[in-house]
Amino acid sequence: MASLGTPLPQFPEAKSSATTLLWQVYHRRPRTQRTRVLALASVFFVLVLFLLNRSSRPPDPDYWTKFPSRHPFPNRPEDAQLVLPRPKFSVNGSLPHDLSKANPQFHVLVPAEDSSRGVCRTMTSAMILEYPPLSMIGWGLPSSSGLTEFEQTVQRITRMRDYLKDSHYVHDRDIVLVVDGEDIFFQLPPRVLLQRFQNILRTTNQKLAKKYGYAELPTEGPDAQPELVQKYEQRVLFGASKECIPSLHNDSGCVTVPQSSLPPDVYGWKTDEFHDGTRNRPRWLNPGAVMGQAADVRLIYDEMLQQMENYGSNKTDEHKILTQMYGRQEVLRELERRRTTNRAKDWLYRTIGISDASNITGVNVRLETGHRYEFGIGVDFESQLFFNQILSRKDVAWVKYSNISRMSTLQMEHKVPREHRLLLPTELAECANPFVQTRFAKDEEMIPAYNETLDKLPDPNERSWVNVPLMTNPHSASIPALIHMNGDKKLRDVWWEKMWFFPWARALLRKYIRNSRGFDSAQSALLGGQEWWDARGGRGGIWTDEEEWIPLYEVCQGQERDLFDDDLGPFGKENGDPLRPVYNQFGTLIKGEKKRSRRT
Ligand SMILES: *[C@@H]1O[C@H](CO)[C@@H](O)[C@H](O)[C@H]1NC(C)=O
Ligand SMILES: *[C@@H]1O[C@H](CO)[C@@H](O)[C@H](O)[C@H]1NC(C)=O
Ligand SMILES: *[C@@H]1O[C@H](CO)[C@@H](O)[C@H](O)[C@H]1NC(C)=O
Ligand SMILES: *[C@@H]1O[C@H](CO)[C@@H](O)[C@H](O)[C@H]1NC(C)=O
Ligand SMILES: *[C@@H]1O[C@H](CO)[C@@H](O)[C@H](O)[C@H]1NC(C)=O
Ligand SMILES: *[C@@H]1O[C@H](CO)[C@@H](O)[C@H](O)[C@H]1NC(C)=O
Repeated sequence: MASLGTPLPQFPEAKSSATTLLWQVYHRRPRTQRTRVLALASVFFVLVLFLLNRSSRPPDPDYWTKFPSRHPFPNRPEDAQLVLPRPKFSVNGSLPHDLSKANPQFHVLVPAEDSSRGVCRTMTSAMILEYPPLSMIGWGLPSSSGLTEFEQTVQRITRMRDYLKDSHYVHDRDIVLVVDGEDIFFQLPPRVLLQRFQNILRTTNQKLAKKYGYAELPTEGPDAQPELVQKYEQRVLFGASKECIPSLHNDSGCVTVPQSSLPPDVYGWKTDEFHDGTRNRPRWLNPGAVMGQAADVRLIYDEMLQQMENYGSNKTDEHKILTQMYGRQEVLRELERRRTTNRAKDWLYRTIGISDASNITGVNVRLETGHRYEFGIGVDFESQLFFNQILSRKDVAWVKYSNISRMSTLQMEHKVPREHRLLLPTELAECANPFVQTRFAKDEEMIPAYNETLDKLPDPNERSWVNVPLMTNPHSASIPALIHMNGDKKLRDVWWEKMWFFPWARALLRKYIRNSRGFDSAQSALLGGQEWWDARGGRGGIWTDEEEWIPLYEVCQGQERDLFDDDLGPFGKENGDPLRPVYNQFGTLIKGEKKRSRRT
């Protein structure tokens, strides 16, 4: 039997013995029919693998470049170093004199023209939790009451965009939180909010890298390595809602957006199917609160304004535009995924039901080449940051985490499958006890002066985060940092009185204002410390978009009953004290007259 296709070579006599040996080894066993079939099969297999592999790794990204998708602002918000390490003391114990806040700041922006009960509650809860002073955008500007609702929306968004663009205090890398003024209660300290924001982005971005992969950027020079960038990133988080806008029923903003990260039976066996929507897993965008890097949020506002211009006289609103933006972003991501995916694998996964494809069935979108649809929008599925009350009022309970018997039955009461023990989250347990009074040096003047009645707080050895009632969502096992009271308006009064700080709100607020001069915060500020979120300083008031400072007792005069319900009179004038000066953390006078006797 001669071996096919390989005529025996005629070696000259002079060839070396080594070659002979090789030749003999190679031809020791003649090939059989069976090995030939095997060889052919494996060649075929390799070829198939090669082809499949080819189809999963195309040479050039198409949708990704056709519609500009690379984010224009490269810094990632989850990499921002928001809490600085403490600077080193020099050998002789003095501090560097050129301290300035070099890391990104944190700003809270609230669109509000005027005071109201809602604005005062938003403000009060933010102060008690030591958020940076709120920037009220549009405060005191000519009223918009003569305008149509659409014009008011355009004005509000324009003002917000302009502030993000023009303010000397807001830099591209800073983190901004934009919340509705009327109906937000802050529940947890800013550290927790920031930490969770960054953690959610980190986790999601790992998933997005796996799902959508990387794109190669063309590089200059013949032997430069191509730069790989993650195709799609999450950069901005909105609150998640249980319902989509009914008029957008078939829009990609309702159909294509990602499924919740919560388990598919988290509201029992009718999860996502119950007729009234209360058992839907929150999935759709709610515009009441948004958090992200200033540059990223500004990009979204720019696009919103452009969309609103396109709508012209047609009525539309912020919620609708944002929903559509979110939807189109997801359609493009899905188109790009389908283009680059391995077809066989995709088919297999769809067949056995583990596909992560987004639904673009029946979705009709008009996409303009060259237009950006990628904004890094995502939502906070598990209400770690923002809780929306619509369709969710029965999903929560105010619980003390130290009450073990209560905590162990909470999830059962809410019919959550697969219970696990609810523990106080570590990021909250690490926060300072809110009931510890500020330390002052003996001869230091306390403003406002300490008063046993007004400043009474529980003993911090007996009370802290673990035994105050915290509004908890047992379904997602989360304690939301912010509560958006966008449901039944009557519940605003009821829920305000359930908040952990309510019984001590006046004392906590006085403590917060006094803090600005206390030993701890002076040191913290000097050291570029953790509570120094915003370089403008100021405590106990708001900043307007014109950078004017307005103290709380001016903003919320007459709201005391709704804020504290304690019959102790107007805030800030409890003992007939005159209006007090306000200092920022560096002892610089911001507002009011300086008393001569004070040392600064
Ligand atoms: C302390 O040391 C730093 C440098 O280590 C020096 O710049 C500064 O002048 C010193 N201050 C005093 C009061 O000696
Ligand atoms: C949505 O799509 C369905 C068919 O998929 C159609 O019957 C219905 O009229 C559409 N609704 C709207 C509001 O366009
Ligand atoms: C505005 O309304 C008109 C008439 O109803 C319609 O033709 C047009 O497409 C609408 N524009 C947008 C952007 O929806
Ligand atoms: C995809 O969306 C369409 C239109 O809303 C809907 O009819 C269909 O059931 C959805 N498919 C899946 C798998 O969810
Ligand atoms: C724990 O919670 C239960 C149920 O709400 C309550 O009856 C009980 O008094 C609580 N225990 C403590 C120590 O607060
Ligand atoms: C403390 O405040 C209460 C209520 O305003 C007032 O009646 C009382 O006189 C104050 N006590 C002191 C020592 O100032």
